[in-house]
Amino acid sequence: MNKIKNTLFSNRPVTIDNNSLIMAIESSCDETACAIVRGGREVLANVVASQIKIHEEYGGVIPEIAAREHLEAINVVIDEAYKQAGVSGDKITAYAGTVGPGLVGCLLVGMNAAKTLALAYDKPFIGINHLNAHLAANFIDTDLEPPFVALLVSGGHTQIIKVNSYSDMQIIGETIDDAVGEAYDKVARLIGLPYPGGPKLDKLAQEGNPFAFKLPEAKVGEYDFSFSGLKTAALRLVKSFDGKELPLKDICASFQETVSSTLYKKVKHALEETAYSQVVLAGGVAANSEIRKKIFSLGDFGYKVYAPQMKYCTDNASMVASAAYFFENTFDNIDVEVFSRVK
Ligand code: KG4
Ligand code: ZN
Repeated sequence: MNKIKNTLFSNRPVTIDNNSLIMAIESSCDETACAIVRGGREVLANVVASQIKIHEEYGGVIPEIAAREHLEAINVVIDEAYKQAGVSGDKITAYAGTVGPGLVGCLLVGMNAAKTLALAYDKPFIGINHLNAHLAANFIDTDLEPPFVALLVSGGHTQIIKVNSYSDMQIIGETIDDAVGEAYDKVARLIGLPYPGGPKLDKLAQEGNPFAFKLPEAKVGEYDFSFSGLKTAALRLVKSFDGKELPLKDICASFQETVSSTLYKKVKHALEETAYSQVVLAGGVAANSEIRKKIFSLGDFGYKVYAPQMKYCTDNASMVASAAYFFENTFDNIDVEVFSRVK
């Protein structure tokens, strides 16, 4: 791979190739992260400061508190990343930062830190879409190359994406209401699990009977999803116990079975229709045990299946650096602003 990027002020062209070191910063939600990645695939430093403990007591992320915490943590994670990789700022080829979608106050902290470093060392700045970063987590330590079908499942998004090349991708299906991670967190909250409930619900589900309760699968467009009906059905199920002790493990397992089999069916259909031979799982919910299991079972039909290592599923900066290296970036200028939603 060979890319030419201009520096911000001096317009000096910089070549990005296999040996390039990209430092990236991620601060779109409740993780302050910094990483240094060589050639898009080799992680030299991966530092993540999580705010989960702080937001736990509120049952969710409070944007103002999150932004303040990013300010506290940003210099610490940057220094730690240089130390872990054993390099100094002038040895970095380009600086990348997530510009959206996410919480605006949070994004501003990371993006401005990355722009500042780029200016200080006279290097290019590369702005990254957080969703592309989640996809790029699959490039780390692998030989993956497009084309592939991707299932992106996070706290804010649920999409099936046709990734035709590094510069051409199409969202062919998405949720019309809740994202998968959001549905997990809401149902987890309903049954009394602390924030973020997704991983805890997953853990309980592994010990329950997935066929104990029949929950509804939404009837929506070919590749689209809807999880709000399922959430309501879970609420009704919980209420039906009328204060009696809940069969928590069975409820979790039944919910997990419904979600994962919907995702599986739609992804399999997309693979058949596109005739692509590779499938990629991405986003925080890619850490889910049953969703991983079902998507990996597509290997039985001859598809090559990729999912990020656990530490690269939830928000981190290595995936941002990898996206900066591989994908065609449209945000690499000093004027780029953060954005909360994809327009
Ligand atoms: O990608 P991510 O770190 O942040 C966003 O960009 O949204 O995803 C966080 C989401 C949360 O909703 C969290 O509950 C969910 O991913 N999550 C899981 C699991 N691990 C994380 N959901 C279900 N099962 C898991 N094992
Ligand atoms: Zn994310």
